[in-house]
Amino acid sequence: MKNKTAITLFGGTGDLTYRKLLPALYNLTVLGKLADDFKIVVIGRRAYTQSEYIDIARTWVKEYARTKFDDEQFDAYAERIIYFKMDMTNEDDYEMLQAFYAEQDIQNHVYYFAVAPSFFITITNGLKKYCSENNAKVIIEKPFGEDLEKAGILNDELAKFFNQDEIYHIDHYLGKEMIQNILSLRFENIIFKGIWNKDFIENVQITAAETVGVGTRASYYDKSGALKDMVQNHLLQVLSLVAMEEPKEEGSRSIHESQYNLLSALKPIEDVHESLVMAQYEGYLQEQNIPADSKTETYAALKLFVDNERWEGVPFFIRTGKKLEKRETQVVVQFKSVGTSPGNVLIIKIQPEEGVYFQFNAKKPGTEQELQPISLDFCQSCILENIVNTPEAYERLLDACFREDRALFSQWNQIVESWTFVNKLIAKYEEQGSPLYTYEQGSKGPKEADNLVDWVK
Ligand code: BG6
Repeated sequence: MKNKTAITLFGGTGDLTYRKLLPALYNLTVLGKLADDFKIVVIGRRAYTQSEYIDIARTWVKEYARTKFDDEQFDAYAERIIYFKMDMTNEDDYEMLQAFYAEQDIQNHVYYFAVAPSFFITITNGLKKYCSENNAKVIIEKPFGEDLEKAGILNDELAKFFNQDEIYHIDHYLGKEMIQNILSLRFENIIFKGIWNKDFIENVQITAAETVGVGTRASYYDKSGALKDMVQNHLLQVLSLVAMEEPKEEGSRSIHESQYNLLSALKPIEDVHESLVMAQYEGYLQEQNIPADSKTETYAALKLFVDNERWEGVPFFIRTGKKLEKRETQVVVQFKSVGTSPGNVLIIKIQPEEGVYFQFNAKKPGTEQELQPISLDFCQSCILENIVNTPEAYERLLDACFREDRALFSQWNQIVESWTFVNKLIAKYEEQGSPLYTYEQGSKGPKEADNLVDWVK
C-alpha cells in the first residue's frame, strides 16, 4: 500500500505520550477518525521490544482513555503502533529512521515533539539531514522557547525544514470544551454581545488554580515558573478569546487576526508592586531536585490593561498557582452595578466542572421591597451525553491538525506578542526588586493577591 500517513512521537516513553497522546489516538481510532493504514511511530531510546511497549501502552490507555476501554479495540489500535528505538540526539539515527519510513511506504508525516524544548532544534536538524523528501507537519509543545529571543531562534531553525503553515503550536487549553465555547457565548447572545465592553464590564478575572505541585518536573519547572509555564501561553490565549474583537469573517485566519490584535494591545505593566504578586508554596524548596535557594514562583497574580477603545480603563486579572486549595479554572466577568445593587456576574466554568453561571438581582419574596442576588447555574459536564460527546483536549487538537484546521493552534505572531509581554514583566519584576511571597499548601494562595482585587470566588 502506498503513501501512508504516520504520526511520529518523539518522546515516546515520556509522560505526555503515555497520559495524553496514546489515549487520544486510541479515542480517535475507536471513533473511526484515522485511516486504516495510519501508523503511530513511537520513538524511544529504551530497548523495549514491540510487545513490551504495547503492554505498557495498554496500561496507560486503560487508565486515561476517555472512551470505554475494550481489549479487542485496543488490539486493533496496537496494530498501528510501532516502537522505534533510536537516539534522537544522534543525527545518524535519522538515516535509520528514514530507511524505516521508506520500507513502510510512509510519505505523509506528522511529527510530534513531545520532548523538552532543548531538543526541538536537534530533532529538526536530524529530520532535515535525512528526511527532507517528506510531506510533513510538526506539532510543537509549549513552551515555545524560554523567552522571546530563544523562541525567535527556534522559529528560524524550524523554518529551515517546515513552512509556517506546517508548524502547529499546540496549546492544550485551546482544545478545552469551554474555552472553545467562549466565542459562542460572546458573539451568539445579544445579551452579552452588546455589553461586552468598558461601559458595562467592571473587570474580568481569569483563574487557573491547581492542587498538584511540581511533581517530577523539577528540571523543567524550576527554570520556568508560573508566568512562563501558564500565563505566557494558556492564560494569555484565554484572555485573547475573552477580549478580542469579533472576527470579521468565519475561519481560522480571522480568529487569529483578532487574537493577535488583542495580544499586541496589552499594555506593558510598569509598576510591579501594584500589579503583580509572585509567590512560592511552602515546601517547594524541599521538593525533589529543586535547588535549596530557588526563587521560582509557583503562583502569579497580575492586573493588566488592554490599550484599545473597547477596554479603556477595564482591569483584567489573571492568577494561577500550584498546590492550592482546589482545582478550578474559570473566567469571571464582573459587570458594573446599577446604583447600589450588586453587579451581575458571569462565570465561564472551564474545569473541572464545565458550565456557565450567571448571577443577577431580583426582588426578595415578601412584603418588603428588598433585593437578593439569584443565579442560573448550568453544569454542562453533569450531563452524561455531554461527557460522552466531549473530546479530550489532545484528542480534539490532534484531530484538528490531521484535518489541517489551524483555528485551535496558536500562531507565531501571537507567541511573539505574549513573550514580549511576559519578558517585559519579568524584567520589571527583577528591576524593581519585588518580593517573592510564600503561601501555605492547600490554601487559596498568598493573601497579598487579595490586594489586587476582590476576587469573585
Ligand atoms: C501545562 C503546564 O501546560 O498545563 C503544567 O506545564 C500544568 O504545569 C498544566 O499543570 C495544567 O493543565 P490542565 O489541563 O490540567 O489545566
